Amino acid sequence: MKVVRTPAEMQSIIKSHSTKSIGFVPTMGSLHEGHLSLVQKAKAQNDLVIVSIFVNPLQFGPTEDLEQYPRNEAVDCRLLEDLHIDYVFIPSAQAMYPTKPRIQLTLTDRVNVLCGQSRPGHFDGVAMVITKLVQIIKPTHMYFGLKDAQQFAVIQLLVEDLNLDVKLIGVETVRESDGLAKSSRNVYLTETEKHEAPYLYKGLQLGQSLIQRDETDTKVIIQAVKEYIRNHTSAEIDYVDILTYPSLEHIDFIEDDIILAGAIKFSSARLIDNVILTSEGHVKKMD
Ligand code: PAJ
Repeated sequence: MKVVRTPAEMQSIIKSHSTKSIGFVPTMGSLHEGHLSLVQKAKAQNDLVIVSIFVNPLQFGPTEDLEQYPRNEAVDCRLLEDLHIDYVFIPSAQAMYPTKPRIQLTLTDRVNVLCGQSRPGHFDGVAMVITKLVQIIKPTHMYFGLKDAQQFAVIQLLVEDLNLDVKLIGVETVRESDGLAKSSRNVYLTETEKHEAPYLYKGLQLGQSLIQRDETDTKVIIQAVKEYIRNHTSAEIDYVDILTYPSLEHIDFIEDDIILAGAIKFSSARLIDNVILTSEGHVKKMD
């Protein structure tokens, strides 16, 4: 496995592999089994696999955890080495953004709901870094986790509207045995919060079971999920919502594929999770 640190070097390497299928997994590092499941899928489907590790400043708000975001390059590289991937791209912020911003991407669809409401500009920052990474790496396949389902829906728009020549693959969420979605931010949880955190997913599953029992009124389902989370955790609920998926539009009654998503805030960690379901409440197969 070769570590590459500049866009120029990465681009010249890519030129020498022009006939191969390239699977690309963008990450911010601090890798866990969720990330590694994306890498494994990329390995199974491509001749060459490239993982990027870059904590992208553009997607963090002024009060968010950019400085504190967990970084662990040595451990990350060892994990990737064990999976025998070809290249890991670890550029500095200076290498990715050598000048002050001269171009800004502004997304107008799928961004003003769910996490977009409390993280203004976040998805614009994600869109910018992914656009740059796609230009540098020219992947044939690009892998994203469905834990960040809104991010996946936004990247779908980006690929469509900017005619990016890459196939997107959404990978299902990897969880702890208690149901908690694996996340780099789980390290911020206190002992008590660690016990409470799985109730976010349990609440979403309760919502799913209501849909399976023919409840279609989104208000009723959202209320029940919120109440469940409130009764089982000390977290503040940022949102629980049901939207069409992947178009992310509000609905009063469920008639088609939906996302039931939640975000909760503990003392120093904000956790998100979701389930993507058919109108009958079955988990939607994404590939
Ligand atoms: P990061 O949070 O590091 O996540 C990298 C990828 O891993 C994302 O596609 C995310 O959805 C996926 N992932 C995280 N936890 C997962 C889990 N438990 N199961 C399955 N997949 C999981 O998302 C980002 O970085 C950034 O926004 C990025 C796309 C790299 C742009 O900067």
